[in-house]
Amino acid sequence: MTDIWTRLKSHRQAQGELRITDLFDADPARAEAFSTSADDLVFDWSKTVIDAGARDLLLDLARGAEVEARREAMFSGARINETEGRAVLHTALRNLAGSVTVDGQDVLPAVRETHARMADFARQVRSGAYRGQGGPITDVVNIGIGGSDLGPYMAVLALAPFHDGPRTHFVSNVDGADIADTLKGLDPATTLVIVASKTFTTIETMTNATTARNWMAGTVTDPAAQFAALSSAVDRTAAFGIDGSRVFGFEDWVGGRYSVWGPIGLSLMLAIGPEDFDAFLAGGAAMDAHFRNAPLAENLPVLLALVGIWHHQICGYPTRAVLPYDNRLLRLPAYLQQLEMESNGKRVAMDGSDLAMVSGPVVWGEPGTNGQHAFYQLIHQGTTPVPCEFILAARGHEPDLAHHHLLLAANCLAQSEALMRGRSLDEARALMAAKGLLGDELDRQARHRVFPGNRPSTTLLIPQLTPFTLGQIVALYEHRVFVEGVILGINSFDQWGVELGKELALKVEPLLQGADAPGHDPSTERLAGLFRAMRG
Ligand code: F6P
Repeated sequence: MTDIWTRLKSHRQAQGELRITDLFDADPARAEAFSTSADDLVFDWSKTVIDAGARDLLLDLARGAEVEARREAMFSGARINETEGRAVLHTALRNLAGSVTVDGQDVLPAVRETHARMADFARQVRSGAYRGQGGPITDVVNIGIGGSDLGPYMAVLALAPFHDGPRTHFVSNVDGADIADTLKGLDPATTLVIVASKTFTTIETMTNATTARNWMAGTVTDPAAQFAALSSAVDRTAAFGIDGSRVFGFEDWVGGRYSVWGPIGLSLMLAIGPEDFDAFLAGGAAMDAHFRNAPLAENLPVLLALVGIWHHQICGYPTRAVLPYDNRLLRLPAYLQQLEMESNGKRVAMDGSDLAMVSGPVVWGEPGTNGQHAFYQLIHQGTTPVPCEFILAARGHEPDLAHHHLLLAANCLAQSEALMRGRSLDEARALMAAKGLLGDELDRQARHRVFPGNRPSTTLLIPQLTPFTLGQIVALYEHRVFVEGVILGINSFDQWGVELGKELALKVEPLLQGADAPGHDPSTERLAGLFRAMRG
């Protein structure tokens, strides 16, 4: 393995000033050769400086890390989350007809049973058979944070054209502004509150859930009857007063950031209906089948991961931008931030040793074309290249506005082309000369108009954003993160790094209330004092 890393780095060094456009000039078939499909998704990674030699070394890296064996271990229910002693089986949630054994027991029957109960409940809510005290449910409020919020929130926004159920709202932040703004205008008598928390202990979620219950208690006689819970801790949901018929449980082998496929997806199921939710699962399952069966060199999640490794670990680009040219994928970058950064933002390998290389990159992004008028300046002309991952659907959902979609698509393709090509000093000088500039002023103005180009990007082209294709995309990214984690030797399925801040928050709260709370640093003590004084 170490040898392959070294060879990859040498290969990159030997490329010197090689430009992506040189690779296209040298190989007329490059656009096709460096493009990979899974069903009808197309992933074009030709606008990178990855040449045939780099590709082969990257594939060797994946082979050397035993990606195929680890992949099988995950799908077959081995306890690959070694620091928590857990299997990793979110794939089982979208494999309803299958069977997977953990500790000698098939876990699928229980998954199917919960899925059927969710669908039954969703049908009752959507048809009005399940009612609030004031009538059929008009609004659903999902209270959860992290994986218990980002997945369903992202998917509900993405699938707006399929949304024919009650209005759906999401509350995550412990900042009272979040729940206050959300509940304002809602009728407690026709609102269903879903408390989504794997552990049912997360302070933000439990605080918001209690506030929502108090809000409802001001109007309805039995608030708990309008609550549902999604959790692995069914004993705690009972203690909160939620009837078992509206509690949807899942096992510890579903990680929070991988949980949208099961009960945590209930708000999505209520919004789009059980049939479309199943299409979302089918999309995920289709990507699972591709990931499990396609050879590494034709495997979309593997190649997406290898392109990521090339740009971050080999080229040293510190961040990665996800740029969906689809306004409804507004929350996809935030979703991927948790998926990628909570999974692979680690500093020790599975065996506890220090990582020999940098771990996961910073992931960020915004839908195009909005980003173009905000941060693309830096992407085009800043000093540090930002590998960009464009996502584009061939068709929108607004046939009357097809000209908007063409413009959107033209911008997406134009951006990746501009990033690659750039504009040379000679071209910039010609532009300035055409404007009548001369001498030093021509030179000075031209330099500002130079685009270095050779900035890498990939494009994921999908037919249309539907429940099925969204399922494919989410599963694609999940498996990409998995492959990157395997190659880095990381456990992508724990998140110990979130614990310390949580623990300290419990100790800082008394300090803010003026209690004698020793053990804090001088800066924190002073800030707490100023906070108390300002608060009055
Ligand atoms: O704090 C991190 C985290 O544990 C995430 O991994 C998880 O998605 C989120 O908190 C919410 O956890 P829970 O679903 O248990 O409330």
